[in-house]
Amino acid sequence: MKKAKKRKEIQFLNSVLQEVKDYELINPSTMIQTFNLTKVYNITEGIEIRALNDVTIDIKKGEFVSVMGPSGSGKTTLLNMIGALDNPTSGVVYINRTNIAHMNDRQLTNLRLKEIGFIFQFYNLVPVLSAYENVELPMLFAGRTKQEIKRNVNKFLDLVGLSEKKDYLPSELSGGEQQRVAIARALCNEPSILIADEPTGELDSKMGMEIIKLLRDLNLELHQTILMVTHDPMIGALAERMLKMRDGKIIETVITNR
Ligand SMILES: Nc1ncnc2c1ncn2[C@@H]1O[C@H](COP(=O)(O)OP(=O)(O)OP(=O)(O)O)[C@@H](O)[C@H]1O
Ligand SMILES: [Mg+2]
Repeated sequence: MKKAKKRKEIQFLNSVLQEVKDYELINPSTMIQTFNLTKVYNITEGIEIRALNDVTIDIKKGEFVSVMGPSGSGKTTLLNMIGALDNPTSGVVYINRTNIAHMNDRQLTNLRLKEIGFIFQFYNLVPVLSAYENVELPMLFAGRTKQEIKRNVNKFLDLVGLSEKKDYLPSELSGGEQQRVAIARALCNEPSILIADEPTGELDSKMGMEIIKLLRDLNLELHQTILMVTHDPMIGALAERMLKMRDGKIIETVITNR
């Protein structure tokens, strides 16, 4: 009994020690840091898929990074781990030098709601709510004041060029406009990180380029850290750095001269 307790204490002390070492390793200017991130899915007995395989990356505060790679290479899995939407099999994610595995439920909710904005391929707007109400929603969940909500919803709808259409329903907007509403919604709580999974996947390439140029301009103005998955090399090249993935690994990093 005593031995087991001692072993647990030693394990705990070792994990604290590791944390301190990691903390010292992480540059204060880093926003997202992963160490040896691995995700294994057990499909059936004996068959496993290594969706992420030992991924170590660091992304600086305010940096705009794109992730490219063939279907099934682990891009969405990587975003899900960083956005605390799923747990890795092994490895760690630090957001702003904090290990997200050690956050309690309240801290995790806070992280997902206020620190990270999500943008998806299929916009995910609520069909019965207007553009204004869709953008307002995460701010209501975050318990922001009425004044803050009004100020930010108007500010971000204006930044994405949709002030005039704030009372329109999603079905009354084009695909590009719907995605701009989704961008305003992701930004309204002023998150420090924006995670976007194929944000232009449903748009034609001209509209896609426009949306990402908007995202890039917002990044230059508001300095959020952006991690964006795309299949389109032209879109990926609008980021400062492109990470190329294959078989769950980062196989190449390209610094763009955008
Ligand atoms: N919940 C799951 N259960 C089992 N396997 C999964 C699960 N999610 C993903 N996978 C597998 O993990 C691998 C990586 O999937 P992931 O969704 O990260 O790929 P992706 O690079 O985002 O692909 P795409 O470009 O098609 O979106 C794939 O082989 C996929 O089949
Ligand atoms: Mg995907």
